[in-house]
Amino acid sequence: MKLKNNFIIVESGNKKNSAIVFIHGFPYDYLMWNNQQNYLKNEFFCISYDIRGLGKSTSGDGQFTMEMLVDDLFTLIKDKELIKPVICGLSMGGYLSLRAIEKDQHKFGGLILCDTKSFPDDDAAKFKRANGIKQINEEGLTLFCENTIPNTFAESTLKERRWIYDQIMERAVKNDPVGVKGCIIAMLSRTDTTPFLEKIEIPTLVICGEHDKLTPPSLMKEMQEKIKGSEFVVVPNAGHMSPVENPDFVNKSVEDFLKRRINKS
Ligand code: MLT
Repeated sequence: MKLKNNFIIVESGNKKNSAIVFIHGFPYDYLMWNNQQNYLKNEFFCISYDIRGLGKSTSGDGQFTMEMLVDDLFTLIKDKELIKPVICGLSMGGYLSLRAIEKDQHKFGGLILCDTKSFPDDDAAKFKRANGIKQINEEGLTLFCENTIPNTFAESTLKERRWIYDQIMERAVKNDPVGVKGCIIAMLSRTDTTPFLEKIEIPTLVICGEHDKLTPPSLMKEMQEKIKGSEFVVVPNAGHMSPVENPDFVNKSVEDFLKRRINKS
């Protein structure tokens, strides 16, 4: 693990292999991709990192935009001298990935979108974000997490594999509230990347948990159909947090995609 420019960056595998950069969702940290990183590290150079303001990356003044988060990703790619990495983002990490490839898709070898969407926040979502910030200020981050995180899991995960939720929750409540609010503002003010979907030329895989309530399979399928030559998989027994709820299925889907579409020889 390295701390560079105040960002936690975790690399594993051989630098000579094709690179994949994992970007976590909100309000999580790089560890949500731990399973995929460990599974893929023998054949791919895997990098995950804590987004500005979350996990152990620093928050600064907490005034974030999606553009700043994208610039952080481009800086990471430059500093690590990555050549056309595959980018794999979940939810907020997916918003960031979509905006990054909209800016310069030729920097990337492929795209994996997990439980995410291209649409920006509508007014109802903006009011919800504003209430979230108010709740963090008045009642604290723990209550905010308790109100929002359960909805991101499938009922079966909450009932039968509660430890998965507990681990995520334990880390989420330790985030810096300033960084969490900064990320809320960045998401609230993000732009619409939908018009760009039909211009995507790089190999793309779209992954969605079958019980995802926030970005359900029907919505993600609609998005995937706009991306030429892209592929779609539905993850059984999983909600919005598919890589942690059903890691084996996600690992194999990602591996299969990478071997067929990225490491072709
Ligand atoms: C996430 O998992 O990153 C969040 O659900 C994204 C959001 O709040 O829009």
